[in-house]
Amino acid sequence: MREEVFQSPKKKGKIAVFISGRGSNFKALHDSILAGKINCDVALVFSNKEDAPGLKIARDRNLETLFLDAKAYSSREEYEKEIIKELKKRDVDLICLAGYMKILSPSFCREFKNSIMNIHPALLPSFPGLHVQKKAIDWGVRYSGATVHFVTDDVDMGPIILQAVVPVLQDDTEETLSDRILKEEHKIYSEAVKLYFEGKLEAKGRRVYIK
Ligand code: GRF
Repeated sequence: MREEVFQSPKKKGKIAVFISGRGSNFKALHDSILAGKINCDVALVFSNKEDAPGLKIARDRNLETLFLDAKAYSSREEYEKEIIKELKKRDVDLICLAGYMKILSPSFCREFKNSIMNIHPALLPSFPGLHVQKKAIDWGVRYSGATVHFVTDDVDMGPIILQAVVPVLQDDTEETLSDRILKEEHKIYSEAVKLYFEGKLEAKGRRVYIK
């Protein structure tokens, strides 16, 4: 059987950014868009948390925001159906998870195959999950970093698009390491979205090739 090859589109795209909190990655992405570095618009900033500070940043920038409360829906499927409706209404090409703390269902991931990216504050496949900066320190690894990857139903394990490496210093605290990694997150997330809409990402099985 021939392996399926995905080619990212070369176009002016529309992205939806999904957040649950602070929103610094969303802000960095939007800054890059405003600076003309990425060929896309932010069609929607979506959150599952009404009080996510990132939503305020989005409103202050006159971007469209949407909060949907999962508790108001009978199931995750119903909740996601509503999200999908909102995304389709706006012709969203790419979903950027940026500190979105709710796991997407396998069917959502399949529906948007190769069209969902996530940023993770570790060098995947090491340290998937939560509190990964603390785990990196506790393990005594010498290097950590950030990973941008496509999202599949295998949480934090989708095909890797870009990574950045930072040293882990002997006197690092969770906070100092997180700050060092975050600076890199902001750079590589913008770079990955830029490459996406330049039509330069090719995904084949587990691998993403940059053309
Ligand atoms: C980042 O560290 C990101 O890698 C992780 O959640 C954090 C979100 O931070 N997935 P922010 O909301 O983008 O500031």
